[in-house]
Amino acid sequence: MKISVIGTGYVGLVTGTCFAEMGNRVTCVDIDEEKISKLKEGVIPIYEPGLEDMVLENHKKGTLHFTTDIKEALQHSDICFIAVGTPMGEDGSADLQYVLAVAKSIGENMTHHMYVIDKSTVPVGTAEKVKATIQEALDRRGSDLTFDVISNPEFLKEGAAIEDFMKPDRVVVGADNEEAFEVMRELYAPFTKNHDRFVAMDVKSAEMTKYAANAMLATKISFMNEIANICERVGANVNMVRKGIGSDSRIGFSFIYPGCGYGGSCFPKDVQALAKTAKDFGYTPKILDAVEEVNYAQKRVLADKVVDRFGEDLSGKTFAVWGLAFKPETDDMREASSITIINELTKRGAKIKAYDPKAEHEARNFYLKGNENVEYVDSKYDALTDADAMLLITEWKEFRSPDFDEMKLRLKNPIIFDGRNQYKQSTMQKRGFEYYQIGVPK
Ligand SMILES: NC(=O)c1ccc[n+]([C@@H]2O[C@H](COP(=O)([O-])OP(=O)(O)OC[C@H]3O[C@@H](n4cnc5c(N)ncnc54)[C@H](O)[C@@H]3O)[C@@H](O)[C@H]2O)c1
Repeated sequence: MKISVIGTGYVGLVTGTCFAEMGNRVTCVDIDEEKISKLKEGVIPIYEPGLEDMVLENHKKGTLHFTTDIKEALQHSDICFIAVGTPMGEDGSADLQYVLAVAKSIGENMTHHMYVIDKSTVPVGTAEKVKATIQEALDRRGSDLTFDVISNPEFLKEGAAIEDFMKPDRVVVGADNEEAFEVMRELYAPFTKNHDRFVAMDVKSAEMTKYAANAMLATKISFMNEIANICERVGANVNMVRKGIGSDSRIGFSFIYPGCGYGGSCFPKDVQALAKTAKDFGYTPKILDAVEEVNYAQKRVLADKVVDRFGEDLSGKTFAVWGLAFKPETDDMREASSITIINELTKRGAKIKAYDPKAEHEARNFYLKGNENVEYVDSKYDALTDADAMLLITEWKEFRSPDFDEMKLRLKNPIIFDGRNQYKQSTMQKRGFEYYQIGVPK
């Protein structure tokens, strides 16, 4: 099949590459000229396990193309995915300007029938807006071309995006006619060979499904963080409680790790966008607002522990930070807890020595740009040298079994603030560390 993907970010590049991998002819479009020229030269703009090899191979084979010219891309495709960003607007709602700009371009440039598929996360009712925008552009041209707008939200996780896309748990498709469902079934058949994972529904339900999924996952995280905060105060150990409740199959173990809050490009904005949609439709959400409130506070818990231990004035203190990305296996720092924690410490005068296996350039150039109290180092051990304590913020695999002797040698004081509860408290105490976790009394 001939496909164009408009927006070549985390979702667009993975989507385009995986469809190309299955033999389709794919053209990825972006307005970012530098990104497209680098992709043409084989430079991949993001870190995602397995992505680079697949992009290079398919580009070489001629199944994956890159361009800034949407007109050219549409000429060579019958199916067009919209995968541009839907960042949070000032009032918490999803900002649809990029999605609607693409819809307008599609209407202005299409030359034959198109299946326009919304893969961006968009509020209920957006497909109707996309449809109206394309139609307006066609009307202005005096064109009677036809098109379908389909909702196909994406559920991939950064850090495991290729795996998720190639073996999806489900493929949710919202459409209003059988032919559109058939095209989508054919498109996704190679990914769901062993059993049918296609979930067909109306467009609004598909749009809502994505928000409901992210809101549910964010709720699990905030719920567990709230339990952790209670555990700490009453003298219970949340790590034990997690095992105790996770073994109940109705609850399960996934997404109930306590930590220093969720970040990323999806949960924070999607929870708030859903809450805003609810309010726009006259319903005041109670759980969604609480999920966000708990998370806001949770991002500050680790810094609060440092302040409790070292005092309000942190000038003259240096802290090692392990992990900047919002989660392991990605370089994405959007809404990362590390940003809040580091800013909370440096505004009190602390200096930071930060190490992340992949996200340093993001921190340096965007998210902590201008924060002169942050120094970046090339190894986790270098971060520790002469630091007053270490903060573990992202649970990269290389932090799971570090050389604790080396850590003790390098740190000025053997103090660890662990925002992801990576180690066992009793073992850490035996090793001579002063060890702070989330949801575990000291
Ligand atoms: N990142 C994730 O893990 C994830 C997972 C599921 C769903 N989503 C959703 O997918 C959408 C895209 O997210 P992302 O993380 O890939 O965003 P991103 O910011 O990484 O990429 C968006 C890309 O769109 C490009 N763009 C903007 N306007 C354009 C236009 N008019 N024409 C062509 N390109 C244009 C940008 O230059 C950018 O490269 C969002 O709605 C997001 O909520 C993201």
